[in-house]
Amino acid sequence: MSFYITTPIYYVNAQPHLGHAYTTIAADVLARHHRQRGEVVFFLTGTDEHGEPIADAAHAQGVTPQELADRNAERFKALAPRLDASNDFFIRTTDEEHKRRVQEVLERVHDNGYTYKGMYEGWYCPRCADFKVENEILEGNRCPIHEIVLELHQEENWFFQLSAFQEPLQRLYAEHPDFVMPSVRYNEALSFITSGLQDISLSRKRLKWGVTVPWDPEHVFYVWFDALLNYYTALGYARPGEDLTDTFWPATFHLIGKDILKFHTVFWPAMLMAAGIAIPEHVFVHGFLLGADGRKMSKSLGNVLDPFEVIDQFGVDALRFYLMRDVVFGGDGSVGMDAVTARYESELANDYGNLASRTIAMVRRYRDGVVPDVATDPELAKEFDGLPERVSELLGRAEITIALEEIWQRVRRCNRYVEERAPWQLAKDPDAAPALDRTLASLAEAVRVISVLLAAYIPESTGKLLEALDAPDISIAGAAFAATGGGRIVAALEPLFPRWARPPIAPAQ
Ligand code: MSP
Repeated sequence: MSFYITTPIYYVNAQPHLGHAYTTIAADVLARHHRQRGEVVFFLTGTDEHGEPIADAAHAQGVTPQELADRNAERFKALAPRLDASNDFFIRTTDEEHKRRVQEVLERVHDNGYTYKGMYEGWYCPRCADFKVENEILEGNRCPIHEIVLELHQEENWFFQLSAFQEPLQRLYAEHPDFVMPSVRYNEALSFITSGLQDISLSRKRLKWGVTVPWDPEHVFYVWFDALLNYYTALGYARPGEDLTDTFWPATFHLIGKDILKFHTVFWPAMLMAAGIAIPEHVFVHGFLLGADGRKMSKSLGNVLDPFEVIDQFGVDALRFYLMRDVVFGGDGSVGMDAVTARYESELANDYGNLASRTIAMVRRYRDGVVPDVATDPELAKEFDGLPERVSELLGRAEITIALEEIWQRVRRCNRYVEERAPWQLAKDPDAAPALDRTLASLAEAVRVISVLLAAYIPESTGKLLEALDAPDISIAGAAFAATGGGRIVAALEPLFPRWARPPIAPAQ
């Protein structure tokens, strides 16, 4: 089975920020999880480098758009490894291979009769690189997203006959109720479609910074068409000498923020239909990260959470965990350094880190580092019944936060189990040796299963822990709670979440 997931491609006129990190991390969690299922996975991210805002920014800085794009694309390319993102390719829309394929696909749209030349007059937001239709425009002729005053533009354009796809799109939505997720976004997109679709600009004449329209070289394609096609073109050249299109197209998941819904849920499927290309399975729309004060993050309000600061202070897993845990995926959420610290301390260090280090320390102290090869405790085992399947099912629907909560309930349950069984008491009583064996075997198995399920979220720490447990298999199939302990030899483990780490073992009483 194949699984293809994408992030939006990021505009290179901004610095990488938490909003970018958020989508990339979420996509990475899903990509890693599907690899754990044994699927063939392709995970794509990259940069969106054409269009007016980039040309303007370059002009303002006295460099060419290509120079600006080259410089800034590097920053986004560097972001992915810092987030531990396992993307298989990084696309840049200035890649020659991408541009050539954009021309091929859009030429097909043209040959199929869905384009025409006309005059366009409308209200344009230069920051969105988008014309706004009447019902979107805010009072005072302002952009609904940037709230800046829109400009009246009139120019000769090639048009894409979006209106011809009203019925096909409605059919697509009727037949695939999970095309757009969550359902609130499905309804939003569908109501945009049913309220009536107008044709849209496909090209720009004034602008030079873009992909040339092959049948009318005075024009470049409107940047959104060039950008959306990245999801398709990348498969043609990501692996030299190989075409991955048949393996991975149509895409399984496009992850996007709610501000770019219309492009991905209306324009994109229509364009694909016009070119005779299959439609992706799901577009998952996540919410916005807001400042701790609940307002949109902005430098001037001083409520920005810097991903690099979090990584430097707490490590990359802490950032990944925090974002996937604290902001319900699909909704909006406030973020701030205090909340990061609280999650780090109470959940990563105390709940999970402490469970891991106590378990390992006790196996080493009481059993010379060998996990007792005895039957595990059915009472604890039953808490894990069906868990890998449930987590898989949730992640299959991109319910990233809910799946994490399912896992976390088991982390907490295991900590209670330690307190209930009090191994440090059992260790004092030679007659309790079998009970201690069973407790330690059960805990080692529980920590292993939990870590396999957490591996997609916090790969660095779970990797260290599973290595210490001598249990490197992270396949979901191997995440079933075993009926017997393994006789494995566990190694010493440095605290996984150091600054707040507790003593590794409960004091002898
Ligand atoms: N280049 C277009 C996407 C083209 S995809 C074919 C674009 N780029 S962007 O850099 O402005 O935004 C990229 C993504 O970051 C969007 O999904 C957007 O929703 C997301 N975010 C930007 N700020 C955000 C928050 N504050 N919170 C969450 N996500 C946000 O749009």
